[in-house]
Amino acid sequence: MAKDTLSVTDNRTGKTYELKIENGCIRAPELRTIKTGPEDFGLMAYDPAFLNTANCKSAITFIDGDKGILEYRGYPIEQLAEKSTHLEVSYLLMNGELPTKKQLEEFTHIITHHTYVHENIKQFMDGFRYDAHPMSMLASTVAALSSFYPEAKNVKSKEIRRIQMMRLIAKMPTLAAFSYRHSQGLPYIYPNNDLSYVENFLTMVKSIGRTNFKPHPALVKALDILFILHADHEQNCSTTSVRVVGSSEVDPYSAVTAGITALFGPLHGGANEAVLRMLREIGDKKNIPDFIKRVKGGDGTKLMGFGHRVYKNYDPRAKVIKKACDEVFEVTGKNPLLEIAIELERIALQDEYFVSRKLYPNVDFYSGLIYEAMGFPVDFFTNLFAIPRTVGWVSQWEEMITDSEQKIARPRQVFTGARKRDYLAADKR
Ligand code: ACO
Repeated sequence: MAKDTLSVTDNRTGKTYELKIENGCIRAPELRTIKTGPEDFGLMAYDPAFLNTANCKSAITFIDGDKGILEYRGYPIEQLAEKSTHLEVSYLLMNGELPTKKQLEEFTHIITHHTYVHENIKQFMDGFRYDAHPMSMLASTVAALSSFYPEAKNVKSKEIRRIQMMRLIAKMPTLAAFSYRHSQGLPYIYPNNDLSYVENFLTMVKSIGRTNFKPHPALVKALDILFILHADHEQNCSTTSVRVVGSSEVDPYSAVTAGITALFGPLHGGANEAVLRMLREIGDKKNIPDFIKRVKGGDGTKLMGFGHRVYKNYDPRAKVIKKACDEVFEVTGKNPLLEIAIELERIALQDEYFVSRKLYPNVDFYSGLIYEAMGFPVDFFTNLFAIPRTVGWVSQWEEMITDSEQKIARPRQVFTGARKRDYLAADKR
């Protein structure tokens, strides 16, 4: 009868070991029993960048990259994008179930009433240069929040954890909007409790010279959809950073700061910006074949917004965003780069190079076009990612804190440097 085990023969010793297989994994620490002798530390797994290592069990987000499936707590992303709101999805991610009407009202009330930040935060913002990157400002001010809520270090208390998680979700749009206003030399706009989460954010960013500013409902809806699509994506670089830093039991503001700084990198949250630059460089549909030739020529040019470590099929988020584009452009007028993007996608999806490598549009291929059409500067795109990802970060952080199998994260290394040698005085080196 088939057994859920793996038999491994160590050819150094001829010994055979039987390792348990659970959830399609072996437990890496069990490899340590495989030794050449009592002095041997035991076998380790070498896996730079965690290509094939599960760092946790998680019940939050499911991805099947081959089939192009993304689900939050079992709900397909397409259904959530069509029927839900970012705050409802936030409740779902944090609690595992969709809220009842009353639960959603309570949750919305709490989030709405924690959107203000301490007045001193404005002074931190003012301390940045006029051209500071909005992500640097966001990361620094979120880190500073930890000093305003010293009780947040009690990470074992559910009650204390929960209020910080909701504060982070509530304050992130305020801090992002303040960073935008600072970079534009505009006065900060305070949150307005009469507005929805997304309306409030757009108002804090966009309102100039009017007390009755109201963002267009179609734009509010589109941004809400984009927020839903970006809310979580299991163990990506920034989420893993939050888990690793949080595993030291530091407060969640400090842990989430690690997520923001990881997201800042161009290989993670910065790709939508690169897509816009690429489309501008192509400039016209007639230049697409030449551009594709360059990508295939191997000079290092990439078709930005294509390809994904996990999705080897159409990124389900890209499909939803493509649809949202039409609704946004009806209000803002068409972004002339859209036609180039659509044609580029059409040609690439028929090309043997992209087909054989399973390269499909990812979430960033169309999102930058929407952000630009909404009037956001390219520098601000990653803040627009960090706001909704906050709920993913805090939900994953709490899952880690409450997981009895987790400990402080501390990988092993394969040491390749020099061993013990005697110190030499400077004149002898
Ligand atoms: N354009 C052209 N060729 C590509 C692209 C691309 N966008 N992406 C991958 N390839 C090629 C690689 O050169 C490689 O070819 P080879 O087998 O001939 O050497 C093959 O496809 C496999 O690609 P890998 O680099 O092994 O894929 P990996 O999983 O390491 O990288 C990544 C994934 C980083 C997303 C990559 O596809 C890429 O750089 N894409 C463009 C940047 C981008 O859009 N990033 C956003 C990702 S979504 C997000 O983070 C929110």
